[in-house]
Amino acid sequence: MRGVFYSQSGDFLHWHTHLSARLPNLDLEDHQHTMDPEAVDYALVWNAPPGFYQQYPNLRAVLSMAAGVDHILSDPSLPDSVPVLRLTDAGMADQIAEYVALGALVHIRGMLGYLDQQRRQIWQSNENRQAQATTVGILGPGTLGRRAAERLIALGFHVLGWARQPRLASFEVHTGPGGFERVVEQSDILVCLLPLTKETRGVLNARVFERMPPNGFLINCARGAHLVLDDLRSALNSGQLQGALLDVFPEEPLPDGHWLWSHPQVMITPHVAARTMVDDACRQIADNLVNLAMGHNLTGQVERTKGY
Ligand code: GLV
Repeated sequence: MRGVFYSQSGDFLHWHTHLSARLPNLDLEDHQHTMDPEAVDYALVWNAPPGFYQQYPNLRAVLSMAAGVDHILSDPSLPDSVPVLRLTDAGMADQIAEYVALGALVHIRGMLGYLDQQRRQIWQSNENRQAQATTVGILGPGTLGRRAAERLIALGFHVLGWARQPRLASFEVHTGPGGFERVVEQSDILVCLLPLTKETRGVLNARVFERMPPNGFLINCARGAHLVLDDLRSALNSGQLQGALLDVFPEEPLPDGHWLWSHPQVMITPHVAARTMVDDACRQIADNLVNLAMGHNLTGQVERTKGY
């Protein structure tokens, strides 16, 4: 079986070394050096450009090098019949849990304000909020969201989740449009870990910020397109939201001079909330390549119609 590799950020040789340690007969080429596109059986990708898949007419699977698959499904050149596989966890759940806990603690301990005071050499104490009196709403309590919830509960936060379909979890998970409203209305801190689909694009918007309790906090570590940035700016400027921790943006890298770089109530990170752990990812990918070669069931297969 022959594969083609495309990533804007991952190093081909690094991935090749890790994968061939598990699959000694690996036949994987970087997209720049693929000699015979018709012989390519699978693609291993992160953020391939639109139209990428039409070069390979005999693809039997596309494997994401990350948890998200929106970068694959948004390309109309990929036939509906080709299975798309995502990574599950691959070391990301613990990292996301840390990131979300960090954001929640930044909010309740007023760290954005203290950083600003430090820069201006102001010695002034403010009230501490208590984790026990703070509700965190997790939109998207999947593998990553559930780990984040567990970590937050251990820190004393009250956690609620919202999922499209009922889910078994060790905390209260609401579903449906009514459930969404109930979660938002109670969430002092709202965390977005949803997949990006037609339904979830722009889900973090003015209506949601208005319904949150006052002085709320937003953590987005899903996709930039979930968030309506103008609505965020208004909610921050009106005080409806006290702050935000953002890891993802509609355009990455965030353009020079963008208002988010310097807004005092916003902390930003360059899409690093959870980096793919290459070794763990390669274990899942190698297992799936063997499954594909043997005609066995694939794992992490997304439902193309649902988009995750
Ligand atoms: C990162 O954004 C991922 O999809 O894993």
